[in-house]
Formats: sequence, C-alpha cells, structure tokens
Amino acid sequence: MSATSSPVRPSQHIADLLDRLHQSSLEQEESIPPAKLVAVKELYKTDPVTSSLALDDLMRDKFIALDRDKAEFVYQLVISSRSRYIVEAGTSYGVSTIYLALAVAEVEKLTGEKGWVIATEKEPEKAKKARENWEICGNAVAERINLREGDLEETLANDIETVDFLLLDIWPPVALPALKAVLPRLKPGALVVTDNTIQSASRYEELFSVLRDPKGNFRSSTLPFKGGLEVSVYMPEK
Ligand SMILES: C[S@@+](CC[C@H](N)C(=O)[O-])C[C@H]1O[C@@H](n2cnc3c(N)ncnc32)[C@H](O)[C@@H]1O
Repeated sequence: MSATSSPVRPSQHIADLLDRLHQSSLEQEESIPPAKLVAVKELYKTDPVTSSLALDDLMRDKFIALDRDKAEFVYQLVISSRSRYIVEAGTSYGVSTIYLALAVAEVEKLTGEKGWVIATEKEPEKAKKARENWEICGNAVAERINLREGDLEETLANDIETVDFLLLDIWPPVALPALKAVLPRLKPGALVVTDNTIQSASRYEELFSVLRDPKGNFRSSTLPFKGGLEVSVYMPEK
C-alpha cells in the first residue's frame, strides 16, 4: 500500500497532468526571490494600490496553484457537501479548477443533477493556458467549467443564480470584493474556502471582519494547512 493516499481518482492522463502542473507551480514559486515578495507585501501597509500592481507584475506568469493537499481537501468538501454550483475566485492556469470540476462530476453521480464551476481570471495569457489544460483533461472537466475572463468584480455579475461553494484563492485585497460579488447568491449553508489565511493574515483583515465577525453570518475555522486554510459556513439569520 502507498504511504500516502489521494481521494482524487481521475483518469491517468489527468493525474499525470496534475502532477506536472503542481511540480511546475512549486518550481516557479521557489524561483521567486523572497525579498521581492516581502517588499511587495510590506508596501501594502502604506500603498495598497501600488503594492497590488507590483504583485500583478510579479505573478503575471506564475501558477501559484493551490497546494495539492488543499486541492484534495476542497475536492472532498465539495463532494461531501454535494455542492453543485461553484465559483472560483482566482483561476490562474486552472489547477484547482480541475479538482473542482472533477468533484462536481462526482456530485452529479451522487445526485443525478448537473453542476458547474465558474472560474475567473483577469490575465489573458493565464486564461488561455487554463483552457489548454482543461482541454487536455477532456470533456469530463472542460464541459463543466465556465471561465469568466477579466476583473471578477465585473465578470461575477448578476447572471449567477445560486452558489453552494466559493473558493477564494486570490490576492488578499481582492478576496472581500469577490465575496461581496457572490454574497447575494450564496445559499444558506454554503461553504467559503479561503487560502493562506495564516500566512497572509495581516492582508486579510477586511475579509476577516466579515468571515470572523462573532455576530456575523459566517461560522469560520482556520485549518492548519501550510499557510492556513479558512473554511467558513454561511449561516445568515432568518
Ligand atoms: C493564487 S492564483 C489562483 C491559483 C488557482 N486557483 C490554482 O490553484 O491554479 C490567483 C489568480 O487570481 C488572479 N486575479 C487577481 N486579481 C483578480 C481579479 N480582480 N479578477 C480576476 N482574477 C484575478 C491572478 O491573476 C492569479 O492568476
């Protein structure tokens, strides 16, 4: 028996693709000079606008894919919550989106009802790469994804009726705007999963003021994955 196990059991060509994409993402992240990243994050305290532009420049060609263990956990959450309508804020080259689409396919098997993943990416080159990756996966993945290109504050418009699951894997300053764009469509009981909430805690303060408000509409736990992963359940008062 293998020392580790994965809950995701896709076709071999998808498993191979995910291996390659995670590997490339890790190699890229290691190649980012840490001092550069620290400088951009420090700048956020005094000049958030310039800091966000600098982060965009630094990350324009980077995957920054959700870590494999987190992606597998998200896959499990989607299936166990039988989430059918998913929004992903921050798609990049589409790695976590593949997990989400595979999970939606499993939910379809359980419930007999169709689901979808709305993905969002503002960098055209990344959106192109994401589509290519989903094409390699084939229809089981590609046909379940609707990619919205552009700034998510515009692309997550009112045409989405209902959302069961929101993945916030986005630059921290955009996390609250993404949540606000989806909030009117969020089903009671919906899950919101946010990446890196320990590592980037200081830049998530605005988001936490909503997700962690003791009198608010979310019940939130921080899980000890690397960098932290926040799992929040939407429980509005009736
Ligand atoms: C951490 S990466 C997403 C990684 C992806 N979830 C994965 O696992 O492969 C965040 C992405 O969000 C995109 N992004 C940042 N701000 C955005 C915005 N306002 N609208 C849409 N996409 C945005 C960035 O270009 C970047 O590719």
